[in-house]
Amino acid sequence: MSRWRTEVPTSGSVSLPPDPHALDGLGRNHSIETALADLVDNSIDAGASDVLIRFMQQRGRLCGLYVVDNGRGIRADRVDAAMTVGGSAAYGADSLGKFGLGMKAASFSQARSLTVLSRTADSHVVGRRWRIGDRTDFQCDVVPPDFAHEEIDRSWNLKSSDTGTVIRWDDVTGFPATDDPTRVQGFLTATMTRILDHLGLVMHRLLAEGRINIGIDAEDTDLATAGPRFDVTPLDPFGYQKPGHLDYPKRLTATAHGHAIHFDCHIWPGRSKTRQFQLVGGVVQRQGLYFYRRKRLLHAGGWDGVTVPDPRLQLARVAIDIDDEIIGLFHMNPEKSRVTVGPEFAHLAEQARGEDGTTMADYLRDAEAAYRTSRERSRNRRRMMPPGRGFEPALKGTIADEVPFVEGENPIDIRWRRFEGTDLFTVDRDSRTLWLNDQYRSTVLSGRRGGLNDAPLVKALLYLLVEDVFQGEYLGAKDKDNIALWQEVLTTAVLCEVARSEKE
Ligand SMILES: Nc1ncnc2c1ncn2[C@@H]1O[C@H](COP(=O)(O)OP(=O)(O)OP(=O)(O)O)[C@@H](O)[C@H]1O
Ligand SMILES: [Mg+2]
Repeated sequence: MSRWRTEVPTSGSVSLPPDPHALDGLGRNHSIETALADLVDNSIDAGASDVLIRFMQQRGRLCGLYVVDNGRGIRADRVDAAMTVGGSAAYGADSLGKFGLGMKAASFSQARSLTVLSRTADSHVVGRRWRIGDRTDFQCDVVPPDFAHEEIDRSWNLKSSDTGTVIRWDDVTGFPATDDPTRVQGFLTATMTRILDHLGLVMHRLLAEGRINIGIDAEDTDLATAGPRFDVTPLDPFGYQKPGHLDYPKRLTATAHGHAIHFDCHIWPGRSKTRQFQLVGGVVQRQGLYFYRRKRLLHAGGWDGVTVPDPRLQLARVAIDIDDEIIGLFHMNPEKSRVTVGPEFAHLAEQARGEDGTTMADYLRDAEAAYRTSRERSRNRRRMMPPGRGFEPALKGTIADEVPFVEGENPIDIRWRRFEGTDLFTVDRDSRTLWLNDQYRSTVLSGRRGGLNDAPLVKALLYLLVEDVFQGEYLGAKDKDNIALWQEVLTTAVLCEVARSEKE
């Protein structure tokens, strides 16, 4: 047998620049919403206070997309580095950028052409364009300043500023190849919703702090008008009212290579129908770890070896900030949509302790117990009729979270109508409506403007009181007597209110 050599010998070298097709492979794990999040990261890094995402529609077809911000722009001497794959700069301590890859990977995952136009404080404009597919070299096109000006100065539905950046995608591969209005509108609505949800989730801390506003609209180039702007609202996966266990949230801390790692352990109050609890995907996937880097959520859910997913742990969510780069412990993928943990991580979680000595195992046990209690609580509650029209969505949501509904029954509405006499309400079992007497409306609203979902407090109280009489085949003697009693008391009460408001 021949001798094994530890060093591989070489006899010269050849230059092998990557084939431009390599660009096609960038960002393969992106979806349109994660790609856009990557561009919004850049806008945030550029100090923007407002970002607009705009879909472009021409002769019925979706043809392009813009991401426009009012940040500080890209300097003329920096634009070529910005367009370079891997052309990274020095990053600030709270910079979301890291790889020098994001904009290119995000854009080429969705579109065949990326144009960048930007204006800085010295009012210089720059423009560059990358197209993939039609080049055999790494040449980036220079866009003339007059076109750059034109694009930057278009009427964007954006808080204006003297500086800013326009990112333009053409030949977007994921857009439907049709001008059929129903299909285009369906695609647009579904895609915008996904983007609003995803950005609301990953940016929720930055949005809640007011660091950034993000809007989405669509422009019809034939009419030269943009539709309404929809703003991204924060979607906080820890956004419950009251925790499901009095001792929580609790911070458990472990130390790795001299860095403290905090596990902020939360317990939701119960299975909830709110967007904050449901998020996107199933609740079982949404239990577990939430990794944040520089206030940006990277990764939502999963236990990464700390424990195994279990329906009984669905109220458990743990926030972990990985601002410090802790070598070997965490890796984020270049798409910034996943964090993978090193083999030490599960061991570290085991060592984490709260100030009172709480361990991860204690926390998981408490989360499971809270789940059991919340199940029992709602199982033991009397079934009620579901609320229908006249209730504010938040109120309906809370009722749905708290009470089991009578199955197969139509919801009951609470609405206003003028009727004779002084009675405050009538029970209309046939139309499943509790009518409120319109002559008291302005008093109940104390001068505030009315609407379908007005007077939530009065409606909630009446719902809790009267809901029962909508149940069953007919109105029993007991029900009738109760209604008479409530009517007497409440009508007197509302007449007192009228008298007081007239005195004022
Ligand atoms: N909207 C913008 N405003 C100002 N500068 C921008 C904007 N978008 C990109 N840039 C510049 O382009 C550079 C390259 O962006 P890119 O997203 O490709 O990489 P990165 O942000 O540096 O790192 P990462 O790969 O982690 O996103 C940025 O570092 C920034 O200097
Ligand atoms: Mg970036």
